Amino acid sequence: MNIKKTYITTPIFYVNDLPHIGHAYTSIICDTVARFNKLDGKEILFTTGTDEHGMKVEKAAKKKGEQPQDFVDKVSQNFKDLSQTLGIINTDFIRTTEKRHKSSAIYFWNELLKNNQIYKSKYSGWYSVKDESYYQDKELIKKGNVYTTQDGSQVDWIEEESFFFKLSEWQEKLLNFYEENPDFVMPKSRMNEVKSFVKSGLKDLSISRTSFDWGIKVPESEHIMYVWIDALTNYLTSIGYPNITDEKMEYWENCIHIIGKDILKFHAIYWPAMLMAINHTLPKTIFAHGWWTNEGKKISKSSGNTIDPNQMIEKFGLDQLRYFLLREVPLGNDGDFSQSSLINRINSDLSNNLGNLIQRVVKFINKNFNNSVPNSLREEADKIKLICQGYEMIITVKKKMKEFQISKCLEDIFFYIDELNKYMDESQPWNSFKIDPKKAGKDLSILIECFRVIGIVLQPFIPNASKKILDILNINNESRGFNNLNSKNILMSNHVLNKPSPIFPRYEK
Ligand code: MSP
Repeated sequence: MNIKKTYITTPIFYVNDLPHIGHAYTSIICDTVARFNKLDGKEILFTTGTDEHGMKVEKAAKKKGEQPQDFVDKVSQNFKDLSQTLGIINTDFIRTTEKRHKSSAIYFWNELLKNNQIYKSKYSGWYSVKDESYYQDKELIKKGNVYTTQDGSQVDWIEEESFFFKLSEWQEKLLNFYEENPDFVMPKSRMNEVKSFVKSGLKDLSISRTSFDWGIKVPESEHIMYVWIDALTNYLTSIGYPNITDEKMEYWENCIHIIGKDILKFHAIYWPAMLMAINHTLPKTIFAHGWWTNEGKKISKSSGNTIDPNQMIEKFGLDQLRYFLLREVPLGNDGDFSQSSLINRINSDLSNNLGNLIQRVVKFINKNFNNSVPNSLREEADKIKLICQGYEMIITVKKKMKEFQISKCLEDIFFYIDELNKYMDESQPWNSFKIDPKKAGKDLSILIECFRVIGIVLQPFIPNASKKILDILNINNESRGFNNLNSKNILMSNHVLNKPSPIFPRYEK
């Protein structure tokens, strides 16, 4: 397998409503992982899109008095627009109402059928339209005569004829697979959750519905395909299923599904079981991130406290939002979206520590060193502690990114930025310049090399600000990959810098 190829996927988003911060969060994480891999020399495929079928979407269209297709066309566009606003580098945007997807889902179904994995029977049990999910009694909470899911979603009792997938046949094989591939589900705590769910017993899964129309028709039947089979297949459609080329297969074998914790069961249990059932290889990793609350409260449409990412970007800036979401909580944990914490992060980390530092140094060089890097340090760079610390940082950042420890990476990078601030305060080049300009020139050149390191390494996390930093340093586009993070590529004396423009203005109310 060529590990130079990586395939990253976001969940595809339900089009029953406007995009919110949860959608933006998943997309930003995937974008960061995709950019990181790309800068690390990998070829990437990165897909996102919209999940447009099912009862929930049909109900939303009816509520608006619109035909489902007209309705989904409009709402899907909102998600496409969000991808644009977020500037994510996805290579595909898939809609489940597209022809390429319908034929792929039907092919997938027929493969299950061919392998004797589907039978017809009658489903009677609980269903939550909100989650588009079936529930067993043991998963529900009973209050008086009303049952809800652990998250409070309403469930309805349904009884209808249905096709079933023989999920129960896969219990042992799934458990063996998890044992052999401990990183299949990450973080570890989620893997444990999945294992204990599977161990507690898997029932066959109802995979078709008859009580509504909006979906892909089961071949030679009046049934509608269960929206999760339809949706999960999108990950294969995007790489050309059923005609996956050898090259695309290399991407698939190194596929990372990044999802929210609420949809773990579908991705980590149903999906691998179905893939095994059609003798298809499995993706490499499923990473489940946590959920955001809004100022301490659960986000829900009914409480009217959803957060519009477009508004947040308008108010605070895109990189500012990205930085906050990625830095505030370890990936995998839940987080609280509080505007005061966001403003704090902007003003202290981004504006004071990073933006000001670079501006002060570059302005001083502009004024006193004719816009050019004062010294050539190539020969001695590997002996200068602060520079070496920068080169070493990227090694640990790479290691941590492999484990999806995005906030830890940012912590390391900003710890390094603190060190640079300390160096600047201790060496005081603006004072030493008056008595020992050579020393001031060397100290400033050291800092410029450190800025080159942080400009390059910050690109996946805050791409626009990093671009600004690298533009100010006048570094050409070909020299911005991680392979340039060594003394060979250090900027030499007389390398001309550009005038600094503000990188992160302070946020003032
Ligand atoms: N359509 C399914 C996914 C099918 S993938 C084959 C779906 N869609 S969704 O629109 O409801 O959710 C999309 C993503 O948003 C999920 O990963 C979910 O976890 C995430 N979030 C929704 N609300 C969220 C928060 N409050 N916080 C963080 N992420 C959240 O599920």
